[in-house]
Amino acid sequence: MADKGIIIMGIESSCDDTSAAIIRDGEILSNVVASQKVHEEYGGVVPELASRAHQQNIIPVVDLAMKRAGINREEISAVAFTRGPGLLGSLLVGTSFAKGFSLASKIPLIEVNHLQGHVLALFIKENGVEFNPPKFPFLCLLVSGGNSQIILVRDYLDMEVIGQTIDDAAGEAFDKCAKVMGLPYPGGPHVDRLAKEGDPLRFEFSRPRIPGLDYSFSGLKTNFLYFLRDNLKENENFVEENLADLCASLQHTIIEILLSKLKRAARETGINEITVAGGVSANSGLRNALQENAKKHRWNLIIPKFEYTMDNAAMIAITGYYKYLNKEFTGQDAVPFARTQL
Ligand code: KG4
Repeated sequence: MADKGIIIMGIESSCDDTSAAIIRDGEILSNVVASQKVHEEYGGVVPELASRAHQQNIIPVVDLAMKRAGINREEISAVAFTRGPGLLGSLLVGTSFAKGFSLASKIPLIEVNHLQGHVLALFIKENGVEFNPPKFPFLCLLVSGGNSQIILVRDYLDMEVIGQTIDDAAGEAFDKCAKVMGLPYPGGPHVDRLAKEGDPLRFEFSRPRIPGLDYSFSGLKTNFLYFLRDNLKENENFVEENLADLCASLQHTIIEILLSKLKRAARETGINEITVAGGVSANSGLRNALQENAKKHRWNLIIPKFEYTMDNAAMIAITGYYKYLNKEFTGQDAVPFARTQL
């Protein structure tokens, strides 16, 4: 039989996206993501509804991923799944599915830390697209709905968190402030769109004074809430009349907070190979600010393709691939973790 290479199926179900992907020797063959719409009317992810939707979606999503890749179950070398961090009920669906799949197909099971997956998304190869991965060691600004971290990446499976939020994540700051302005969930992309028309210097919001490379976003969120409340007392149309400026000023503040610690990390470690990952890295203002800083500080900046910044199984499959090469397998007794560190 011809050598088919190492084929890894990735399964991601940590929050509200059910995803399956197939990767062969590090190159993407398929990446299917089913996003759950059911949460929109609640203004945030409802854990119980998320796990039910994963249960409904997982089989069709996996089926489609195999069809799109043109791969049979028998050809898959190993199945990788997100073990944590995330919502426990959601993680259970992907974990149980992966265990069953591994048993039935008699292939190894590989657990993946979701955060490591976000970082290794930078190493996904695409047919016909120039492969331009970062060189080790590099710094990764991981900004998502649940995390804001600066990670020092020494090798594929050797990473250290050198700074992280002590309370809310940057994505939460976007989403919660958007919610109080009456924008739909998740608010980050709406703030991004509206900010393009607004004045980023019109309103000034508070910035944290946190030592070292750590972040904090809860003070900004409270400050924003009180600012709106006070202004709404004077003018009940304050939000509608100033929406673009509010979004632009909020986004500007979040970006400044993120960039100040990233610049410091680059200075202190002497590393100028800089990358970004996670859902918030889709933000156009953040991307522009990163580009400007890259020019100014001579960073080699690598920004992943948009579809790999959001939650997806391709990043789980690529991490599974490197763990497979390292023979890091997981037993059938694995249980998901809601909270895990890298
Ligand atoms: O990594 P991700 O898909 O999953 C979670 O960690 O849950 O990140 C989702 C987060 C949400 O907070 C969302 O509002 C934010 O990423 N996000 C954005 C943008 N696109 C997604 N935030 C700001 N600007 C965007 N364009």
